[in-house]
Amino acid sequence: MAATVRRQRPRRLACWVLMTVLLADLLALSDTLAVMSVDLGSESMKVAIVKPGVPMEIVLNKESRRKTPVTVTLKENERFFGDSAASMAIKNPKATLRYFQHLLGKQENNPHVALYKARFPEHELGFDPQRQTVYFQISPQLQFSPEEVLSMLLNYSRSLAEDFAEQPIKDAVITVPAFFNQAERRAVLQAARMAGLKVLQLINDNTATALSYGVFRRKDINSTAQNIMFYDMGSGSTVCTIVTYQTVKTKDAGMQPQLQIRGVGFDRTLGGLEMELRLREHLARLFNEQRKGQRAKDVRENPRAMAKLLREANRLKTVLSANADHVAQIEGLMDDVDFKAKVTRAEFEELCADLFERVPGPVQQALQSAEMKLDEIEQVILVGGATRVPKVQEVLLKAVGKEELGKNINADEAAAMGAVYQAAALSKAFKVKPFVVRDAVIYPILVEFTREVEEETGVRSLKHNKRVLFSRMGPYPQRKVITFNRYSHDFNFHINYGDLGFLGPEDLRVFGSQNLTTVKLKGVGESFKKYPDYESKGIKAHFNLDESGVLSLDRVESVFETLVEDSPEEESTLTKLGNTISSLFGGGSTADPKENGTDTVQEEEEGPAEGSKDEPGEQAELKEEAEAPAEDTSSPPPPEAKGAAAPEGEKAAEKDGRDKPEAQKPSEKGEVGSEGAPPAPEEEKKQKPARKQRMVEEIGVELVVLDLPDLPEDQLAHSAQKLQDLTLRDLQKQEREKAANSLEAFIFETQDKLYQPEYQEVSTEEQREDISGKLSATATWLEDEGFGATTAMLKEKLAELRKLCHGLFFRVEERKKWPERLSALDNLLNHSSMFLKGARLIPEMDQIFTEVEMTTLEKIINETWAWKNTTVAEQAKLPITEKPVLLSKDIEAKMAALDREVQYLLNKAKFAKPRPRPRDKNGTRAEAPLNASASDQSEKVIPPPGQTEDTKPIPEPEKETAGPEAVDSEPLELGGPAAESEQKEHPEQPTGQKRTLKNDEL
Ligand SMILES: Nc1ncnc2c1ncn2[C@@H]1O[C@H](COP(=O)(O)OP(=O)(O)OP(=O)(O)O)[C@@H](O)[C@H]1O
Ligand SMILES: [Mg+2]
Repeated sequence: MAATVRRQRPRRLACWVLMTVLLADLLALSDTLAVMSVDLGSESMKVAIVKPGVPMEIVLNKESRRKTPVTVTLKENERFFGDSAASMAIKNPKATLRYFQHLLGKQENNPHVALYKARFPEHELGFDPQRQTVYFQISPQLQFSPEEVLSMLLNYSRSLAEDFAEQPIKDAVITVPAFFNQAERRAVLQAARMAGLKVLQLINDNTATALSYGVFRRKDINSTAQNIMFYDMGSGSTVCTIVTYQTVKTKDAGMQPQLQIRGVGFDRTLGGLEMELRLREHLARLFNEQRKGQRAKDVRENPRAMAKLLREANRLKTVLSANADHVAQIEGLMDDVDFKAKVTRAEFEELCADLFERVPGPVQQALQSAEMKLDEIEQVILVGGATRVPKVQEVLLKAVGKEELGKNINADEAAAMGAVYQAAALSKAFKVKPFVVRDAVIYPILVEFTREVEEETGVRSLKHNKRVLFSRMGPYPQRKVITFNRYSHDFNFHINYGDLGFLGPEDLRVFGSQNLTTVKLKGVGESFKKYPDYESKGIKAHFNLDESGVLSLDRVESVFETLVEDSPEEESTLTKLGNTISSLFGGGSTADPKENGTDTVQEEEEGPAEGSKDEPGEQAELKEEAEAPAEDTSSPPPPEAKGAAAPEGEKAAEKDGRDKPEAQKPSEKGEVGSEGAPPAPEEEKKQKPARKQRMVEEIGVELVVLDLPDLPEDQLAHSAQKLQDLTLRDLQKQEREKAANSLEAFIFETQDKLYQPEYQEVSTEEQREDISGKLSATATWLEDEGFGATTAMLKEKLAELRKLCHGLFFRVEERKKWPERLSALDNLLNHSSMFLKGARLIPEMDQIFTEVEMTTLEKIINETWAWKNTTVAEQAKLPITEKPVLLSKDIEAKMAALDREVQYLLNKAKFAKPRPRPRDKNGTRAEAPLNASASDQSEKVIPPPGQTEDTKPIPEPEKETAGPEAVDSEPLELGGPAAESEQKEHPEQPTGQKRTLKNDEL
């Protein structure tokens, strides 16, 4: 197929038309689309956005805070999020969910599920036998999986971002802890899918932080590698990361800065939450002791009291970071008994002594995984809220042996900012300076398979084989292809995690299943039957570890080759077009799934590129029993994921296209020439007697997921619908509340207005009584029946009242506007008249306006004066309690019409070219006639100023007309016959004496 791609020229036109349409679509999208990032911490999320024309910024939530608690309260008929939910924790602890991410991707027997139950006994966890997972059982009717709860939070984060950006947002980069395994990552992706968010990437939060650090220090990055350690202790966990920054040569953009994750160490449960829990336990003990002998119940059995204690423990912990001691204080902690106890920092440190001992652990792990020593680390930088605890800093400083710890990044917001930079880089709507990000695989992944071998004749045995697919600390995103060379029948292979010995036994249990997927192939034997005369090139399994760190098996193919004489086949127009578009986007021929599974493709070298071992693009020498090579590709082809969790694909598809030009190239000498000059078919034949023809047969794949099954599609759709319904219900509820509030506010405000002089002045007593009666009746209705009223009913009541009061409000509003509007009209009339007068004074030889133009302006001026005087006079005769005839909108319309005319003439003057002057014999220019008056000369002016030598600004009226009193002043001070005649021509105007009404006389 590829050999016939570049042939005809005419179809290029069609392609460019199509391209233009596609590009236009992209540009249109880019105008409107903002993108967001969510740094999804255990305790709080930090949301950032970037929108066209506006730099990256942290989103303020409804309370104008930069952090939003990852908390949701789920009640039968309403939900609360963020700060509102956090404030519900005490009133409604059972329905207020926090730290639920710790349950993501975990089965019921996971120690973290037990830990969650122990930490938060107020929550009832149900068991889902199908996936062996847990869910929150809030009430008999209300149950939600951790994915559903996360989805609600993500949706909420989007609403915050949308409110802030003032536009809809769909694309997001979401942070996850670097230690999240496949199941945990897929759980986040599923939650995002339920929320209808398009995840551009799941980025490790440590990588996002490192990116933010690098982006803001771009200038300090050079060809010398700098190793920086980030130590992030958040609420739930601690992660230590070693990052190398340096500039590298990129294919497309020359030298660019790069960050490479070199080492990662973590402690899944070391963080601020555990410290808080220790403090809470301490406070609970103190309270129980205070009440000893009073036969009081254990405070630990009272969820509300425990929620109060946890909140106080949090506050206390924070205060103790800056003070040596502090008094914990809770009014009416339980049974109306107050609690007060002094806690010292020393006591706190004692309570958490074992936690502080764990502080160096992640540092050691990070160094080990990076194979580095501490003296190679230039700086250790603190990230995360819990690093503010002085003891943490003290122990860490000792562990890293540096003079000081770096506090030069925003410990709370760096991850969100890095993630939003990445979001902008991935989105088509933005152009950002390249920053190469090379993340690293934490958990190695293997392919395992068992094959029968015959070591001696007749003696057959089973041999177990393991091939490392993605090695620990190897870079990703990355694609790999494993070729099985010795199978000619259906077989199975297994994808498992590799050596996880670096995890302790407890962490291994938390990790969950070490087996990922069993892959059962169907159709291998048939493919061999189909191509008996071809040479098998093996069964190729294409894997992708995408930008989000999620593994998928893209496809499995049985590949055959033979030497054939080249005979250019006739392509259908559609195929040609498709091929050319694909080549325009750089797409490879093999990326396209075969319609019939038997397409002929070019030799598909998976692009051994630059780079050494474990670099993206390496040619790994993995072979099945030293025969079957496993090939890498640095650049992912479009992820047509089948079976295994599909990556979010658009960008990957693009990259694939960019990086796989070889796929379009002829594999053998004598292939077709360049696209621009295709040889004739006969010629082609002559030139290319034989070439390798490759046949690819897609192999059926059945995946047996062994870690944690994803939510089935129907369940996912059901959850998405359930959450959408809840969102809709919340919105409806909010709208109803808004309607009730508006009605109530209108009644209240209008009752008040009826006593204000400006309203009383323009209304009769009868009118006021009528309004007041209706207001009272509606207030009574709202009190008695409003509770059950629908949004529509509430809105209708408000509409009725508004209609009733409209006349009164209108009169007040109009009267307020008159003075300013009339004064502006006067000003405009005066200036226009002045302008007209100036225009008429221009000597004929310089005149740029036609008589018609000047007469038209004159007419409008006169009509406007006349209209104003008549309407103002009419209005003066009307009772002020009736609808006015002088309307501000009419004044505005008159002004607009007049202004349009003046602007037209001004514009004309602006672009008018001075007429060439006749020259006298001496070569000097003709002067104005001697009898022209000084004023004539000074009036030889065409606005606007300074355009030509011959033009000067129209003089301003000597008295600036401002405010109502200006109406009585003389607007035209210019003498001369022209001015006089003009006054004669307009008897109704414009001398002061004739304009009898002042604006404020109305
Ligand atoms: N001044 C302070 N002193 C002590 N602890 C603090 C201080 N400020 C914040 N913290 C703690 O930091 C933690 C929150 O940090 P951060 O926002 O980095 O965590 P997170 O991102 O929500 O969680 P994680 O990254 O672990 O998932 C909380 O436990 C909070 O109590
Ligand atoms: Mg965090």
